[in-house]
Amino acid sequence: MKPFKETLLEKVKETDHELLACFDRKFDTPDIIVSAMKYSLFAGGKRLRPILMKETCRCLGGDSADVKPLACAIEMIHTYSLIHDDLPAMDNDDLRRGKPTNHKVYGENMAILAGDALLNYAMETAIAGIPVDPSKTFHYTRALSYLAHSSGVNGMIGGQTGDILSENEAINEEKMYYIHAHKTGALLKAAVLCGGFVAKVTGEERDALETYSEKIGLAFQIVDDILDVTGDEKTLGKPVGSDEKNHKSTFVSLYGMASSQEKIRELENGALDALATIDHDTSFLEDMAKYICQREN
Ligand code: IPE
Ligand code: IPE
Ligand code: MG
Ligand code: MG
Ligand code: MG
Repeated sequence: MKPFKETLLEKVKETDHELLACFDRKFDTPDIIVSAMKYSLFAGGKRLRPILMKETCRCLGGDSADVKPLACAIEMIHTYSLIHDDLPAMDNDDLRRGKPTNHKVYGENMAILAGDALLNYAMETAIAGIPVDPSKTFHYTRALSYLAHSSGVNGMIGGQTGDILSENEAINEEKMYYIHAHKTGALLKAAVLCGGFVAKVTGEERDALETYSEKIGLAFQIVDDILDVTGDEKTLGKPVGSDEKNHKSTFVSLYGMASSQEKIRELENGALDALATIDHDTSFLEDMAKYICQREN
């Protein structure tokens, strides 16, 4: 069997092609904004959210081609969130995906607009992909509606708001979990559940996917917090020490390194246990959970 990292790389390439295809058209706008959108979108992200979405769909017995427009949309939304996260008014970082951040190249005004444009283009792409086959329309639009919910004020934006408000503040456990589950967890959960919805999951399968995705979502951000302390800039493609610089409360600052590592192991096991209740071959999702918990970038 092929090593997981090799399989993942193939799926990254496939996702890159699908995203490129979304830009293979004329835009009725000054070139600079399209160039700024593409700069960050094709800077070399890990593509975990679109891959998780397509693979969850496939593992649960669906056709991953059915979820492709939504998969492109979630990567555009994620990329916009990173462009805005790096802005001087937010985390004020200069490096992302191994390159100077969007505002460093295009200026703050264009970076804000490129983020806005990616969010709207995501929705345009996802809506254009609504299937005409009546047996698929409901399941796809259910996923689309969940993606919109998870990206917005009750999801990622809520978490980012909590994150900004908690700068220079020693926050309690409840707030920490709220921030992590929303700023990062919400989009990862949407990736998994949208894939599941399009595969027409049963109620029990949905519950299992929910548990799986909540656990890998939290683990993902705890690893991110750890790498912000122990990682190196070259491997990460973004600065280390950003959280300390911005006086953020993170899992590491709140519980220490050892407890954070322990929590990741617990979450990894919980995610795998949830998958074990699903009566399909979920080996890709198992490998993904392990990868997310053990990643170095
Ligand atoms: C970074 O996400 C932002 C967080 C939610 C922690 P990723 O680590 O998935 O970033 P890319 O897409 O690979 O650049
Ligand atoms: C940001 O969390 C999550 C987003 C919604 C973009 P971080 O601020 O910790 O992400 P990085 O470390 O800059 O990638
Ligand atoms: Mg941030
Ligand atoms: Mg940041
Ligand atoms: Mg971080």
